[in-house]
Amino acid sequence: MFEQRVALVTGAGGGIGLATCRTLARDGFYVVVTDITLERVKSVADELNDAGMGAMPLQLDVMSHASEIAAVVDGVFAHTGRIDVLVNNAGGSAALLGKITDFCEAEEATWEWVLRLNLGGTMRCVHAVLKYMLPARYGRIINLASIAANGLPSRADYSAAKAGIVGFSKALAMEVGHAGITVNCVSPGLIGRMRPDSSGRLPQECAVRPTDGNWLGHTGVPMDVAETIAFLASEAAAYITGVDILVDGGRMLGPTSQMERQELYHKNAEVPK
Ligand SMILES: NC(=O)c1ccc[n+]([C@@H]2O[C@H](COP(=O)([O-])OP(=O)(O)OC[C@H]3O[C@@H](n4cnc5c(N)ncnc54)[C@H](O)[C@@H]3O)[C@@H](O)[C@H]2O)c1
Repeated sequence: MFEQRVALVTGAGGGIGLATCRTLARDGFYVVVTDITLERVKSVADELNDAGMGAMPLQLDVMSHASEIAAVVDGVFAHTGRIDVLVNNAGGSAALLGKITDFCEAEEATWEWVLRLNLGGTMRCVHAVLKYMLPARYGRIINLASIAANGLPSRADYSAAKAGIVGFSKALAMEVGHAGITVNCVSPGLIGRMRPDSSGRLPQECAVRPTDGNWLGHTGVPMDVAETIAFLASEAAAYITGVDILVDGGRMLGPTSQMERQELYHKNAEVPK
């Protein structure tokens, strides 16, 4: 059995996934970096291993059958003897298929795909790791939801999937708390890929109008989300379960000013009733 704590991250080749692997490795975890193809995570594992942190790249398609995901997780446990943390990060909307539409125009195949990737993927990975976390009487499960769980037009399927993840996480937190396993969600707002420059300022492309995004006036960066995930994976968060932490720059607080609200009102008034 590894002495080092082991964390498995899905979708680790993307923006938030990669940042999460870096924070968890920094915090002393051996990181199992997984993604839909091995190519997407080889360089992530190389980066962490070259820096003297332990990491293993693995191909794991969260849309595959539960038994196939269980087989991958069984293989990880056979190698490490423990799985302390699962970060269900793989996900995305129909934008990945180039099929963003209002629901009345959506195709069943598209919304089934979005539900299977986000909600189904999370449930299948959780099912596979509980086999090891329950007997160990320890675990940290962190699921990526989204502010879309509150409803986002033209992304009804994605909103349903992310709201489903929040509900699933709360029910699961009740079921497995007795075994020392915590289950929490992190809900990002608009997260860009740009990094702050050397002075800590974000590039102009990250600027957003308050009604587009948030009260801080710029998009978040993957590390903002990754640090929250690292906190939930840490001992500092031992007494936190069943919560959904917003990392959205205040986006869910609503529009900023009377003027912005009026702008929204006039925009909506143009829509034929
Ligand atoms: N970026 C944002 O603004 C934002 C906002 C809210 C929520 N989120 C959520 O955060 C998570 C990460 O988002 P991101 O912006 O880093 O996305 P990203 O597109 O940069 O990365 C997603 C990763 O998931 C992988 N992936 C896709 N399908 C997969 C599958 N079937 N099996 C395994 N891996 C698969 C992709 O290869 C990619 O590496 C997602 O769940 C997303 O819904 C992101």
